[in-house]
Amino acid sequence: METGGGQYPVACFVLKEKKAMRYIDIRSDTVTQPTQRMRDEMYKAVVGDDVQRDDPTMNKLEKLAARMVGKEAAMFTPSGTMGNQVSIMTHTRRGDEVICGEMSHIVIHEVGAPAVLSGVMVRTIKTGDYLRPEQLAPAIRPDDIHMPHTGLVEVENPTATGLVVPLEVMRQNYELAHQAGLPVHLDGARLFNAATALGCDVKEITQYCDSVMFCLSKGLCAPVGSIVAGSREFIDRARKNRKLLGGGLRQAGFLAAAGIVALEEMTGRLQEDHDNARYMAVELNKLDGIQVDMESVQISMVFFTIDRDAAFIEALPAKMLEKGIKISGIEDGMFRFVTNHDVSREDVDYVLACMKDLLAQ
Ligand SMILES: Cc1ncc(COP(=O)(O)O)c(C=O)c1O
Repeated sequence: METGGGQYPVACFVLKEKKAMRYIDIRSDTVTQPTQRMRDEMYKAVVGDDVQRDDPTMNKLEKLAARMVGKEAAMFTPSGTMGNQVSIMTHTRRGDEVICGEMSHIVIHEVGAPAVLSGVMVRTIKTGDYLRPEQLAPAIRPDDIHMPHTGLVEVENPTATGLVVPLEVMRQNYELAHQAGLPVHLDGARLFNAATALGCDVKEITQYCDSVMFCLSKGLCAPVGSIVAGSREFIDRARKNRKLLGGGLRQAGFLAAAGIVALEEMTGRLQEDHDNARYMAVELNKLDGIQVDMESVQISMVFFTIDRDAAFIEALPAKMLEKGIKISGIEDGMFRFVTNHDVSREDVDYVLACMKDLLAQ
């Protein structure tokens, strides 16, 4: 069995009736398999020592990435987390404050790295959804001998919860930060999903940040890697910080080869994942006991509650796994299903049928 039209093996399970089937994995878009073309390009890649800037495939990826997001230069990092942290380290000095939303990935899901690695404090703003200029303005510190120095504004688009931030909000945050002399870093892990949802070129989003991190993995299916882009001067300094963090890789062109395919072939197909997510949301919402937060279905993520007792909720991931479907357990009272390149409309129908069966038991 295979996914994504390739010839490579994927994990299978065996149904009671002894039929081998592949898993349908809707835990996240981080589970995507590299495509056959990525595997072919990785196999053929011409590589060199990237720490010495000697890897032609990596140089090609970084140039392409910088051009696509409208920045002077770009740099590969092994993960989105390292991309964000290198950016924070490069923009700030120890003791600075970084202003960001309370639900930001750098606050909740990066293990306290801003404090550990850069010695900065995060000033979290209660946003509900995403940072807005009226919340940002009062959070910027005045020049006062007692107060920490505000060093950076960090925004996300889409947010880690899959919400797309309007361009106008990004513009106002950016202008406000610049008036105060502050740089803006954009965590755009799913930047191309945001551009797809907004119906714009990514450059229209990235014009409102000084540095951006976006992932080649996740919805774009590369096996490893993210990009940080910004001014040439910023990227030169970021490169040194990446080395400090142990992110200077040698023959990294094998990874870059897949990244180039991600940018060339995978950024234009995300609408399919968004359409599948909307379809799943609409159909799930019709099932007895399920309530989907329809307003939050903006990219490939579907958040919902199930009105059943705790035992049902706890058992659901295991019950779905028996049917060959991988889902995550409940978090903050919500289930999250995520569509991706390896999940077809037919797969979504199978998920819906299984959910209907289990809810009826
Ligand atoms: C919004 C956001 N930022 C950053 C990251 C970090 O990416 P990585 O898992 O590659 O470290 C993620 C990962 O899911 C994310 O959702």
